[in-house]
Amino acid sequence: MKAKHEAVARLRDLIRYHDHLYYVLDRPEISDAEYDRLYREMVDLEAAHPELVTPDSPTQRVGGEPLPGFRQVVHRSPVLSLEDVFNLGELRDFTDRVARLLPGEPVEYVAEPKIDGLTVILTYRDGTLVQGATRGDGAVGEDITANLRTIRSVPLRLRSAAGAGDAPTLLEARGEVFLPFNAFAELNRERAERGEPLFANPRNAAAGSLRQLDPRVAAGRPLETYFYHLRAVAGVPSAPASQVAALGLLAGFGLRVNQLRWVCRTDEELEAAVEEFSRLRGELPYATDGMVIKVNSLDQQERLGARSKSPRWAVALKYEAEEAVSKILDIELTVGRTGAITPTAVLEPVRLAGTTVSRAGLHNEDYIREKDARVGDRVVVRKAGEIIPEVVRVLAEERTGAEAPYEFPRRCPACGEPAHRLPDEAAVRCLNDACPARAREAILHFGSRPALDIDGLGEAVVDALLENKLIQDAGDLYVLRAEEVAALPRMGEKSAANLLAAIERGKERPLDKLIFALGIRHVGARVARLLADHFGGVKRLAAAAPEEMAAVPEVGPKIAESVRLFFQEEGNRRLLQKLKEAGVRMEAAHAPQQGEPAGAPLAGLTFVLTGTLSKPRSQVQEAIEAAGGKVSSSVSKKTAYVVAGDDAGSKLENARRLGVAVLDEAGLERLLGDRRRDYDDA
Ligand code: IVH
Repeated sequence: MKAKHEAVARLRDLIRYHDHLYYVLDRPEISDAEYDRLYREMVDLEAAHPELVTPDSPTQRVGGEPLPGFRQVVHRSPVLSLEDVFNLGELRDFTDRVARLLPGEPVEYVAEPKIDGLTVILTYRDGTLVQGATRGDGAVGEDITANLRTIRSVPLRLRSAAGAGDAPTLLEARGEVFLPFNAFAELNRERAERGEPLFANPRNAAAGSLRQLDPRVAAGRPLETYFYHLRAVAGVPSAPASQVAALGLLAGFGLRVNQLRWVCRTDEELEAAVEEFSRLRGELPYATDGMVIKVNSLDQQERLGARSKSPRWAVALKYEAEEAVSKILDIELTVGRTGAITPTAVLEPVRLAGTTVSRAGLHNEDYIREKDARVGDRVVVRKAGEIIPEVVRVLAEERTGAEAPYEFPRRCPACGEPAHRLPDEAAVRCLNDACPARAREAILHFGSRPALDIDGLGEAVVDALLENKLIQDAGDLYVLRAEEVAALPRMGEKSAANLLAAIERGKERPLDKLIFALGIRHVGARVARLLADHFGGVKRLAAAAPEEMAAVPEVGPKIAESVRLFFQEEGNRRLLQKLKEAGVRMEAAHAPQQGEPAGAPLAGLTFVLTGTLSKPRSQVQEAIEAAGGKVSSSVSKKTAYVVAGDDAGSKLENARRLGVAVLDEAGLERLLGDRRRDYDDA
């Protein structure tokens, strides 16, 4: 029996040794097949002698039934968090403060990667893992021992490393559990296949895995660990004197410790470390969200002490995330000038890429349905470029059950009239031409910079004018009297006079600006210019026959129909009449006669080509240049058009994001208009 006992103990040590090499040091010495043989031998021995099975045996990582709930754990000492800094200036404030508190002493710092995972606290007594807990609120956490035991790099027994002597009577280590990027991608791929909700990021996946009551879930996920803080140790021959020594001690006991770290003696060295890590970071197989900078000497740490929530001897230098998690408090609806009802998520404020964000775009009804976004949901928001952030994903696994699916309204939130979704359109629209919200937006658009550029006609002024019934549409701007404008709240004689002068100046804007200002659906600044060039006056545009519209480059049946409808509508006719009576210029300075060529049709326009085109790019580029246009390789707000062939990728996405018009090749040919022959022949 004694012999058996010893054989089992030897085999266990051997397996532990290989586990440590494989999972902690990432440096296996034997093949997987050899390891499997050892492991099976162990399993067989234990099956034959169940009395020899110990809880810290490598075979005992997953045990028993799901737990009924997590037990609470009162931490022996507060689990502090760290003060955040966001740039090198704030980092210097930290080192300056430390220098002031330790006058005349040299201070050494250790800069470590800040692992973006879930904080855990492990407790070992006499070398055996007795408890694993979450941070919780810092005072009380949850007992997740059963889940942590399933992580292969978490030793169930500490190693007695050379020099470390016998097992310490107590060891408490703080570290991070995380899921490496590849495992995260694989997990989400499997979940997608099974139709399960996806995890937003590796951090959520790790947290989700450890929050399961059934340890078999965590066991099935390749979670990893890094330990970075020695919270308590007793019964060791000599206690470490520095953070670096503490990391060495943790590693010696068999815990997984990150080897990436920089010991720095000056601000310059710290800044170089930050710089170096920011370059390295993209290549790491796991998520980091910054660096943690700690005073190296444990004696100095102790003398610096802590505030109520965070130590004075460390800070987290955080990267500005491009994605963040927040909660949808409400879904707000705004009615645009064309009646489109646009939903926006009102969020719990969250820091994102350097600003605090409290709203995010939800685009339209289909977008909400596709994401299944609900009020109360926790969501991932992302900031792409300068536009308002958007909701990219719902964390369905974090629902409480109280969140009801969102019903897109079938009535206009502004006027209460039925709202409609027209065939082939993504937007639900209010079609009531008398809708006050639509009127407001139409007037704002009329006065906007690319339209009639009426300085001072902002939201507050338009709202005041509407509320006081001084105007109903943009045409009424021209009969406003100075006294009535001056009497509006927060106005005065001077601002009233300025506003009226700006309204007056708007009368002389070029024809294309006026056409744009009318707010005809599908007629943006560019199409307005083409229409102005072609027709030379509002009257001719209003009377245009369908065939004549079709002759305008880039104008398809959709625009033609929209223009026709606009001029039919009673309210619009009234508006035009008012503009005419006010003396707004409704003709081009020089109206081209029918059939007159349009000149270099693409002058001043920049194009970006993307995807596979039917002709060589050089040929397409020549045709564009021959028509006066330019071709550039990257999409910006200055890009007039992106010409997209098959399999267009990121440039097309950028175009959508920046609101740049996208053409297919046929569209480009139409735009090239009477130069089309050149293009075909080129
Ligand atoms: S030191 C009092 N070191 O970041 C000791 N924390 O923002 C504080 N974290 O809650 C912890 N990597 O969960 C430390 N190398 C590292 C870390 C690290 C990640 C986490 C930790 C902490 C949070 C602070």
